[in-house]
Amino acid sequence: MYDVQKIRADFPILAREVNGKPLVYLDNGASAQKPQAVIDATTRGYAEEYANVHRGLHYLSNLATEKYEAVRGTVKTFLNAAHEDEIIFNSGTTEGINMVSYGWGIPNLKAGDEIILSVMEHHANIIPWHFLRERMGVVLKWVDTDVNGDLDPQVVIDAITDKTKLIAVTHMSNVLGTVVDVKTICTAAHERGVRVMVDGSQATVHMPVDVQDIGADFYAITGHKLYGPSSSGAIYVKRERMAEMQPFIGGGDMIRTVGKDVITYNDPPHKFEAGTPGIVQMIGLGVALDYMMDLGMDNIAAHELALRDYAQEKLSGLNWLNIQGNSATKGAIFSFTLDGAAHAHDISTVVDQRGIAVRAGHHCAQPLMEHMGVTATCRASFGLYNTTEEVDKLVSALELCHELFG
Ligand code: ALA
Repeated sequence: MYDVQKIRADFPILAREVNGKPLVYLDNGASAQKPQAVIDATTRGYAEEYANVHRGLHYLSNLATEKYEAVRGTVKTFLNAAHEDEIIFNSGTTEGINMVSYGWGIPNLKAGDEIILSVMEHHANIIPWHFLRERMGVVLKWVDTDVNGDLDPQVVIDAITDKTKLIAVTHMSNVLGTVVDVKTICTAAHERGVRVMVDGSQATVHMPVDVQDIGADFYAITGHKLYGPSSSGAIYVKRERMAEMQPFIGGGDMIRTVGKDVITYNDPPHKFEAGTPGIVQMIGLGVALDYMMDLGMDNIAAHELALRDYAQEKLSGLNWLNIQGNSATKGAIFSFTLDGAAHAHDISTVVDQRGIAVRAGHHCAQPLMEHMGVTATCRASFGLYNTTEEVDKLVSALELCHELFG
């Protein structure tokens, strides 16, 4: 049974007060809090087990390498990848998508080729493609969400032409919580020889993900949202795609031999991992993923869907609150504006006085803001430790906002 109070006790920060009130942390979409097991693993990593990886033959280097490399298997299991060598470590989704843009996009695309993007993408899944537009003349084609904030896979499929080479799409919107049917998109794309880059930053936090079932060519995840350390992350790259990729960053560890006129590369995935990595961060990520898998991704998803339903009912009862997006598939992420009010920043400041952390702004999704006709929203994003009592506290803080600004 999913005992949320027991789970909360694993996260020391949840016991603190903010502005004299118990912390209600509803900014998980931006970054999640860390369980004691992750904090302990990172402390132990530095206090007892630290050395560089893949380099020394001494005891500590071997220990650190063993622990660091074991995380590749953990990520493989977490994403149900077919092979460990399909997992490239990095600092998070932003680096992962840039790696695909530089490492796969530059060698495999040419001027006039098309990349399809949804209007719901995070800037991390937009800017790396703009680089190819600016520098190579690749064409970006945008597909819209509907009035509910849903992305109809058929709209994406209909946008494919014989010039389309890649679809870059989120699995779950960081603003609206909409879950996208990426499997249908991947199946149709592959029938037409088109590759698919899926941004899994948000989806992997909230539900089980199986990259083989989805069929993605590239699937990026980020550790700090997965209850792990910041600057930890990974990208799944299907073997066939990895064979088409060139290294994006050069330096130590990614080579086999270096001469004055010639270099040879290490085997994949190490070929794509240059320099001293976030050793302790990655070990912490492994512990965070184990923590989530021990709770059970299905259990986490069920808990959060119950929270979503509760929040949906409570927030919908506030007739001066405009909830953006109403997808039937959405997870427990709510973006809203308030009638007559108050910039999103004012709302966030007022609720912060009640100890409630939410994000306000454009959420690194300006094309979506433009599409929705707003400049900013307030966003409450829930995680595996949130409760219905916290939804009630949010509602009562929003009622105060309405009194002040409405
Ligand atoms: N991508 C993060 C968010 O949605 C930072 O807030």
